[in-house]
Amino acid sequence: MIVPTNALFKHAYGKYAIGAYNINNLEQCMGLFQGNLQSKAPFIIQISKGARSYTHKKMLESMLKTADEIFPDAVFAVHLDHGDEATCLDCIASGIYSSIMIDASHLPYAKNVETTKRVVDAAHAKGLSVEAELGLLKGIEEDIKADDHVFTEPDEAVDFVKKTGCDSLACAIGTSHGAYKFKGAQKLRFDILEAIQKLIPGFPLVMHGSSSVPEDEVRRINHFGGAMQGAKGVDENSFALAAKLGVTKINIDTDGRLVWTRVHREYFTLYPENFDLRPVGKVFMAEYARFIAGKNKKLGSAGQLDAVREFCKTNKK
Ligand code: G3H
Ligand code: 13P
Ligand code: ZN
Repeated sequence: MIVPTNALFKHAYGKYAIGAYNINNLEQCMGLFQGNLQSKAPFIIQISKGARSYTHKKMLESMLKTADEIFPDAVFAVHLDHGDEATCLDCIASGIYSSIMIDASHLPYAKNVETTKRVVDAAHAKGLSVEAELGLLKGIEEDIKADDHVFTEPDEAVDFVKKTGCDSLACAIGTSHGAYKFKGAQKLRFDILEAIQKLIPGFPLVMHGSSSVPEDEVRRINHFGGAMQGAKGVDENSFALAAKLGVTKINIDTDGRLVWTRVHREYFTLYPENFDLRPVGKVFMAEYARFIAGKNKKLGSAGQLDAVREFCKTNKK
């Protein structure tokens, strides 16, 4: 059942966070549904601009429609990750998305407000909700590079939400995309979330760059020929605190790529004579499902499926 992202947020707010998982292909799609059902969790499927052009945007959209038929018990939202204005408009027209993200965070404040507001108006007219971003994550986001974190300013966040009418806000608190998030110990500015929550209680916040880059996954990748020295992610034990502070959506992409890389490196090293894509694909789907189920426990979304399904029947927006 594809549901509005806002309904998922209403159910989760202050109690747990929904896992927002990026997918690009069929095997990820199957593993994702299986893992969420195994752990009885609602979830968000995120499609990036890059994912939409990897094969074809329509291929991905059809896959999600079909997955909805194959897994009738699943409760999920379909979301555009880091969209520009043109991609947002395309997704609004496609008819399958529950929500979109307009990422104009690299623009000057007034331009970010202006662009976000235009997208919000277009999305709301068609019943989609909108995530926007304020502040910059260090590193590369789609085609934009930031050399350092630009933390979200709580007062500015309040003004931004008021002026744009966006439904949720991605805040920069020190996370970053990819597998190399911290040189030393993790430093996250939970005080920023706390301040925003005090100013706009009940408003859903989003944490990007939240893969935990499991040490064991990196160790196995390196053991089987990888070269990922110094990889480090977000401590997944921080998710419960983030959820309490109003984070309802936690974005995870890199961890899924690590599972894929580990499985394929290991498999083809252990079975060098094999050239069939299906046996390794089956291992990946099972391992990715196992990863998702474990992650949902840390997010607190595991076990919420039946309650969320009931909630969504009466909360259709
Ligand atoms: O924010 C970035 C996401 O991990 C999506 O990555 O643009 O390579 O698909 P991508
Ligand atoms: P990671 O790179 O930490 O998985 O972050 C993904 C993300 O924020 C997608 O928008
Ligand atoms: Zn992101």
